[in-house]
Amino acid sequence: MPDLQVQCSRCGEEFPPDKVLTVCTKCGGALLFRYDLQRVANTVSKDGLKKRSDSFWKFIELLPLSSAQSIVSLGEPYTPVLRFPQSSIEGLENVYVKDDGRLPTGTFKARGMAVGVSKLKELGIRRIAVPSAGNAGAALAAYGARAGLEVYAFMPKDVPQAILKECIYLGAKVYLVNGSINDAGEIVKKFEPKYDWFSISTNKQPYRVEGYKAIAFEIAEQFNWNPPDSIIFPTGGGEGVIGLWKGFKELTDIGWTKKTPRIIIVQSTGCAPLVKAFINNEPEVKEPWQKAHTIATGLNVPFPYASYLILRALRETNGKATEVKDEEVISSMKTLFRKGIYACPEAAATLAALEKLKNQDTFDRGESILLYLTGNATKYLDVLKIRKEQLPVLGPNASSLD
Ligand SMILES: Cc1ncc(COP(=O)(O)O)c(C=O)c1O
Ligand SMILES: [Zn+2]
Repeated sequence: MPDLQVQCSRCGEEFPPDKVLTVCTKCGGALLFRYDLQRVANTVSKDGLKKRSDSFWKFIELLPLSSAQSIVSLGEPYTPVLRFPQSSIEGLENVYVKDDGRLPTGTFKARGMAVGVSKLKELGIRRIAVPSAGNAGAALAAYGARAGLEVYAFMPKDVPQAILKECIYLGAKVYLVNGSINDAGEIVKKFEPKYDWFSISTNKQPYRVEGYKAIAFEIAEQFNWNPPDSIIFPTGGGEGVIGLWKGFKELTDIGWTKKTPRIIIVQSTGCAPLVKAFINNEPEVKEPWQKAHTIATGLNVPFPYASYLILRALRETNGKATEVKDEEVISSMKTLFRKGIYACPEAAATLAALEKLKNQDTFDRGESILLYLTGNATKYLDVLKIRKEQLPVLGPNASSLD
């Protein structure tokens, strides 16, 4: 087998890895890179990896770049894994969080865009457009700025203000869309011939997903090559979860890990097309979720592309799909804050899901469970209310706090 191939995940058609690719031209399926894993196993070892620094680019043999020269980096650290204080979650002894809020622009979307921008720049692309719930737009704007590329971001108009400012000041040309991320996707497609941009839409190109694989690589190393039994992952378009699954598959095929964790996705009751399809045993999401709305805007994806792949990841790993209410998300955000963990609503949804599934006897007491925190709270502080007028105001000469 050649070192690198690209294959359709639905019909198996192959494509040249050195050309700019979108989806399968035969069936519209999502394209995925395939590596000669035997060759990787022969050239790199776990001990060899230990000698490299802990960075996002550590497993470069499992990235589709021609060489390290192509890397566009903003300094991506290994993100921390913290054990949840033992007494905090009754009945469960081994709960961990991994905090991707430490990545550039504060979310895990940096992972997909770091590799996406690096590869597209290598392929000669100069202008990139993205339909985004917000955070992917911000991450693309940041990596685009670093790489000197033009960025166009199309986002639903309820996108948090902070994300808007971020995208604009990072130099992206921003358009608000009166509709969902799927409507934004249609606009990007419609104007593509006129503006000649590459559309880096979720699962409609094979590049971003390669960046999310590092989630699996980091987890494997951080858990000493014995990954947790279950991972709860907040899911909208599903590129993150497909990357996580693909990363673990590559590690087990090489022989570095023995198992892929059970993948459990969490969505919002306000937009849960994947949960519905999973529960109804459907192979894919058949129609868009109607009147989608949630404060966890990253989960607001009414009609995810390549939903068949996300559902395959759940079924192959004996996983699950569950949904939580916005009130539960806010309550979990507050719980995490009180433990010093600064999580955005999408991330906090994982704790809400854990509480819900725990009550349905999904977990054994001793099993290890990782909550994947996809972003930090900074951009979402508006969802937490305080009444400033109820706070005491002190003069410089205050003699008491009453
Ligand atoms: C913070 C956060 N978490 C989770 C998600 C869902 O990611 P995906 O679309 O890869 O499923 C998003 C998407 O925007 C997000 O911004
Ligand atoms: Zn195909």
